[in-house]
Amino acid sequence: MTQITEAAAYINEKLGRLKPETGLILGSGLGVLAEEIENPVAIPYQDIPGFPASTVAGHKGQLVAGKLEGRDVVAMQGRFHFYEGYPMELVTLPVRAMYAAGVKELIVTNAAGGINESFDAGNLMLIEDHLNMFGTNPLIGENIETQGPRFPDMSKPYNPDMIRLAAEAASEHGIEVKRGVYAGTTGPSYETPAEVRMLRILGADAVGMSTVPEVITAGHCGLRVLGISCISNMAAGILDQPLTHDEVMETTEAVKQDFIQLVKAVVNKLNG
Ligand code: 6GU
Repeated sequence: MTQITEAAAYINEKLGRLKPETGLILGSGLGVLAEEIENPVAIPYQDIPGFPASTVAGHKGQLVAGKLEGRDVVAMQGRFHFYEGYPMELVTLPVRAMYAAGVKELIVTNAAGGINESFDAGNLMLIEDHLNMFGTNPLIGENIETQGPRFPDMSKPYNPDMIRLAAEAASEHGIEVKRGVYAGTTGPSYETPAEVRMLRILGADAVGMSTVPEVITAGHCGLRVLGISCISNMAAGILDQPLTHDEVMETTEAVKQDFIQLVKAVVNKLNG
């Protein structure tokens, strides 16, 4: 707990008069959204007590706070993945620190592989629910009573009002959005074709290597969550082609204008 309060205290000190109610987690290739933040205050992860330094290509490793669409926001440019070897406690520390710093809602984004055959690379998907395929749960261990209950409800991990807002924002800006279930796996290997067929049978529409730990933790804290996946490629076996991280980065590059516009429009609507 002290780790969380120390991180939150450091973040609040750096933010000064900014009081973000909205937190953003920007996934692979989607960190450019942070460049839209006005009068940005950047806080490198390595300066925040208890935070490790993020390592993956396409991930910057800093918090960026400031105004987006007139609203105080704090964005994670880069996140900590379980596959990097960080314990769940560190993967989810930023969510707990943002909550402790006063954030009320979280917009979580990622690049994901498409499983639903009606999807194409380049689609955006509003996450309606998830499958935790990590084989563990970030809440295992002593419960942090100041943040939430021992056995938190997960009946609405993605806030229906925020999904509705995002769907409205998308249609107003002529941006096509899909909806579906996100399966979170540990990675770092992509799935085999048989694993993709399994995930499809289980109800997954997309698969990725993040988001689920952060969303479970956000649910524990009682944060309202919106999840957006950028379908960067189709998952293994759906098309007859190998998967590469380069393709993930190329596709996110191509859809980033839509993505930026959608997130800004959602944040605008959060202003009410
Ligand atoms: Cl196909 N699988 C996983 N686990 N993560 C991904 C992906 C696939 N494409 C982008 N991220």
